This record gives sequence, C-alpha cells and structure tokens, in this order.
Amino acid sequence: MDGKYRELHRLLLWRQLDQGWDPRREFAVEQPLYLEIGFGNGEFLLRQAHNRPRENFLGIEMHWGSVRRCLRRLAQAGSQNVRILQMDAQVAVRYLLPDRSIEKFVALFPCPWPKRDHERFRLFSTDFMGQLNRICRDGGLVVTDHRGLMEFARDQVAGSGLELEVVETEARYNTKYERRWSGQGQEIFFELHYRPQATSSYQQMAEVPVQTLILESFDPDGLALEGCQEGLVVQFRQQVFDSKREIFMVLVTVVEDQLSQTFWIEATRKEGQWHIRPARGGGFLPTLGVQRALELVQKAGQVG
Ligand SMILES: C[S@@+](CC[C@H](N)C(=O)[O-])C[C@H]1O[C@@H](n2cnc3c(N)ncnc32)[C@H](O)[C@@H]1O
Repeated sequence: MDGKYRELHRLLLWRQLDQGWDPRREFAVEQPLYLEIGFGNGEFLLRQAHNRPRENFLGIEMHWGSVRRCLRRLAQAGSQNVRILQMDAQVAVRYLLPDRSIEKFVALFPCPWPKRDHERFRLFSTDFMGQLNRICRDGGLVVTDHRGLMEFARDQVAGSGLELEVVETEARYNTKYERRWSGQGQEIFFELHYRPQATSSYQQMAEVPVQTLILESFDPDGLALEGCQEGLVVQFRQQVFDSKREIFMVLVTVVEDQLSQTFWIEATRKEGQWHIRPARGGGFLPTLGVQRALELVQKAGQVG
C-alpha cells in the first residue's frame, strides 16, 4: 500500500456541505464542470481529466472500495481538476446539485438490475432524468451492455424534458466493465444520448431546518417507541438510557423520496428540560422524515 490515496482534498464529505453548496466552487480554477455517475475504479474519469485540463470533473460513486482506488489513481496522476462524492447518485442529484451547475453527465455500464422485482433500483427513471435535466445544461450519455436497461430508459424518458437517441456501438470506452462484457463475447453496446428538449419542471429537493424539540418532562425509561409507515417510513431500532448522565439514545431508520438514512437520536437533560435532536457527530440530511422521527420520540416520551 503506497498510502497516496490519503491525499483526501479531492474527496468531498457531503454530510458537511452547506445548503446552497455549489460544486463549481470546489475547484482551484473555475471552468465547465462534467459529471460521471458510478465511475467504478475511476479509469475513465482519470483519462477525461487528463485529456481535458480546461474542464473540471465531478465523480459520484457509492462504494468506498472504488472511491479509494480512484483517489489513489488521481493522487498518482496529480490530477487537480477532479472532485469525488461518495454517495448515492439519486440523493446527490435530487438534493445536492444546483440547477444548471453541470454541463453534461455520463454513466458507463450502470448496474442493469436485470431481475423484474429489482427494476425499481434502476437509475434513469423519469424522475431521475427530470432531475438530471435540471442540473445539466446539455443532457448527457449513458452506455450500457443491457438491452433491458436501454428499453427501460427509452420508456421512462417522456416527461423528463429530455429526448433520447439510442445508437448501437462497439466497445470504445475501455472501462473495466466494458472489457468484462467484451471478453465474454458481447459486440454490440447501446449509447443513450440524452438532449434537452424542454426546461426541467423539476425542483431541487428541499432540506428542512431540523428543530430540536424541548420538553419539560420526559420518561425515557423503558420507552415504547412506535414507528410509522404512512408516506414515509420511520423504524426505531435499539435504544439505550444512561440514567446517571440522563442521556437517552435511539437508532432510527427513515426512508423517504428514495432516501434512506440511519442515525441516532438523543434526548439529553439540561437545566431541567429535555432536548430531543439528532445525536451530534452522526451525519444526516435534514428532511421532513428526520423531523417526524424526532416528533415520534417526543410523543412516546411525553409524561402526562
Ligand atoms: C457496473 S459498475 C460500472 C463501473 C464503471 N463505470 C465501468 O464501466 O467499469 C456500476 C458502478 O456504479 C456504482 N453505482 C451503482 N448505483 C449507484 C448509485 N445509485 N450512485 C452511485 N454509484 C452507483 C457501483 O458502485 C459501480 O461502481
């Protein structure tokens, strides 16, 4: 291990990004910004950054192993025009990226989720494309080996404000997954060219200011917490109470709008009052679901 991936300035910690964050301001030189979704080991991202020094590149990838490999490659190459977000692209595109902040997006060989009951995990739904149209000035490109995913994308494009042209192509992107499918004998791949047709009617999903709830009396001992299932899902997991220090904590999962978050809520006693809020030190995106979870803790613990 050469440890070079420890040059972490290219990695953006999304839980520390303020509302109103703009990715264009993360670069030493402001120049047109391009987005790659699901960059895997990052070799295409690195080549693009090297060949196009007058442009900046943002990569979004969910898995830390891939991000780590990519950070090491970028450090070895000394690329200064790349930044990385390790997170679900669904969340980044809906919540974090401002209108028209990106020139174009690219996604190479995205996961096809071939089983029918897994189709809901596919990117490139109408809603996701509408959001991509909101953040990108000039559409983008998806390349896939999977006919089913191509057909899904074609069915979903209406209503997104983008139009789609599908072109059959041979292997020409030289990524790990393209080499894998070519190695198994696949000769035809699909390029999905998305172009803007209308201004996006989608809006950036709003964060909400999460408010600490204050109670005069609260009984955390043996608290029976009930989640909820309407519209959004709140599920309480393990809970602990330190009666000496008067700290109650409960682990909760909140699922809403394609976003799933697991974090701790704490109730602490200070100057005779109980303060219920997300525990410090953990990360969460402030949403209505987070506030709802705090209210459920408040309701269950209220005395009298
Ligand atoms: C099949 S691999 C392709 C990797 C690379 N583009 C290539 O061509 O070799 C798909 C990649 O997308 C990432 N991915 C899947 N869903 C994602 C999501 N919702 N947000 C961010 N990355 C995602 C996976 O972790 C994986 O690295």
